[in-house]
Amino acid sequence: MRKTASPKTYRVESFGCQMNVYDGERMAEMFDHQGITPAAEGEDADLVVLNTCHIREKASEKVYSRIGRLTKGRQNPPLIAVAGCVAQAEGDEIMARSDAVSMVVGPQAYHRLPAMLERAVDGHRTTDTDMPADAKFAALPSRRKSGPSAFLTIQEGCDKFCTYCVVPYTRGAEISRPYSALVDEAKKLVEIGAKEITLLGQNVSAWTGEDAKGRAIGMAGLIRALAEIQELVRIRYMTSHPADMDDALIEAHGDIAKLMPFLHLPVQAGNDRVLKAMNRSHTAESYLKLLERFRTARPDLALSGDFIVGFPGETDAEFEDTLKIVDAVGYAQAYSFKYSPRPGTPAAAMEDQVAPEVMDERLQRLQARLGRDQLAFNAASVGKICEVLVERQGKYPGQLLGKSPWLQSVHFTGPKAGGAAIGDLATVELVEPMGSSLGGRLV
Ligand code: 5AD
Ligand code: SF4
Repeated sequence: MRKTASPKTYRVESFGCQMNVYDGERMAEMFDHQGITPAAEGEDADLVVLNTCHIREKASEKVYSRIGRLTKGRQNPPLIAVAGCVAQAEGDEIMARSDAVSMVVGPQAYHRLPAMLERAVDGHRTTDTDMPADAKFAALPSRRKSGPSAFLTIQEGCDKFCTYCVVPYTRGAEISRPYSALVDEAKKLVEIGAKEITLLGQNVSAWTGEDAKGRAIGMAGLIRALAEIQELVRIRYMTSHPADMDDALIEAHGDIAKLMPFLHLPVQAGNDRVLKAMNRSHTAESYLKLLERFRTARPDLALSGDFIVGFPGETDAEFEDTLKIVDAVGYAQAYSFKYSPRPGTPAAAMEDQVAPEVMDERLQRLQARLGRDQLAFNAASVGKICEVLVERQGKYPGQLLGKSPWLQSVHFTGPKAGGAAIGDLATVELVEPMGSSLGGRLV
């Protein structure tokens, strides 16, 4: 590779889950720290990081087409780093296939990007997909930017090995970040403007640690400690596995006012044979019982989930069970996907892969139900007066956008134009359901 000038501007493009969004923010902070500035909207950047996702189909194809667009016809193409889970899974192939890429860096190694960048400027290509336990966070510069709603990764990796899922291979074994580092980062986020923190992890409720007195605590203990930070007004977390939801966490939903009434708890399917083949370690019934306990602790809890249709061998009758569990729960919102075989996972090698047209049809039916329930949930919220955390301005003059406690998007007209209210908790009456969002009126 040729030597190039040191980059003056950068852009980080994150795909996939919130954990990638968090990682992308931390990468951006590293570049800021080095004096590289974010490229303006629409401007070509000297350095581009593609922070990729490998959870479903065509992820790597997307990466190559994005690289093509970044380099085509440009005399001075940007330095390109491929980061995230595609980098972890297919780093060597990417290096072999695309000369335009000078850095490949896995999710556990991106703190080393500044050194890799120096080498890239000198004309050397580097691949770093090491998985050192917990070295990354300590090596990152401290937080410098935050909107009213911030992400905080508390746990990474997954030991559950659901048979369809690539995460245990790309993100590695479960690690929990230490309690004191998390409390410090949360305080810092609040200092720079965060009012709400969403705790993130692939398997977030598996977090464990020791509090300041050396006592073993779980996620409920961590949430209690964070709730002590005065200016922090809202706490959320995602994503959880039903097997790690303990009594302490259920209790926390009942008695910590700052913990928002929202729970994202994927079930994936409603049929016990399918759940077993997925290695989910819960049944439809145990999942419903668990939700009942949460709802008893917090009756207004809004529920969210993830679903996969067309897992290998899923019959029509088994798919019907997924519709039944949807009806039984009444989700406020949910994500649903067609099964996608991931290289190296057990399910990819299973017989009876379901035909694409069958998956299409199942997904449509499932999404129709989930859409119906989301509308019903929003319609039932009309008339409620609640606090909305204002995150940004809307399309229209004076319009503000934010989230209700139940994670609904709410737009309303602010007291004064010009965004003076961003970061405020506004008291709003929910007046009009509009698709996936709600219109509100300032009280
Ligand atoms: N195919 C389809 N969906 C998947 N998910 C994870 N792996 C796959 C796959 N191979 C979905 C699950 C998970 C969400 C993050 O992505 O529903 O909860
Ligand atoms: Fe993947 Fe979630 Fe299952 Fe872990 S619990 S293997 S991240 S689907």
